[in-house]
Amino acid sequence: MIRIEALKKQFGRVQALKSINMTVNAGDIYGFIGPNGAGKTITLRILMGILKADSGQASIFQKDAWKDALSLHHKIAYVPGDVNLWPNLTGGEVIDLFLEFRGKKTMTQKTH
Ligand SMILES: Nc1ncnc2c1ncn2[C@@H]1O[C@H](COP(=O)(O)OP(=O)(O)OP(=O)(O)O)[C@@H](O)[C@H]1O
Ligand SMILES: [Mg+2]
Repeated sequence: MIRIEALKKQFGRVQALKSINMTVNAGDIYGFIGPNGAGKTITLRILMGILKADSGQASIFQKDAWKDALSLHHKIAYVPGDVNLWPNLTGGEVIDLFLEFRGKKTMTQKTH
């Protein structure tokens, strides 16, 4: 389902990812843990196609996380821990908004 091989990412002199390998199979529940600054967020951003790796492979469903990001994003989702949503929208309205981004029908009935 998820495959990462020899993934590297550098920011100037900071080597954020030295050479990461990871395999997550169907049905796995994978705990991705590590100390602050270990590179967890960078790895997830690369997997989500938000950030481009310097070298190595990152794929989901055997599709390249960077090159195939558009088609992958129809099938995957990512909820960051530090998410900031819109305080003036209800939880239901936020879900509807994201469904509309994806061209899907909304869950809640509009009353106006
Ligand atoms: N945009 C950036 N520019 C420079 N260095 C960065 C950048 N983003 C991350 N880093 C560095 O890359 C390394 C990995 O950071 P990352 O945010 O992936 O760690 P993390 O495992 O998610 O940490 P935390 O547990 O604190 O969330 C850190 O040394 C960080 O300072
Ligand atoms: Mg992080």
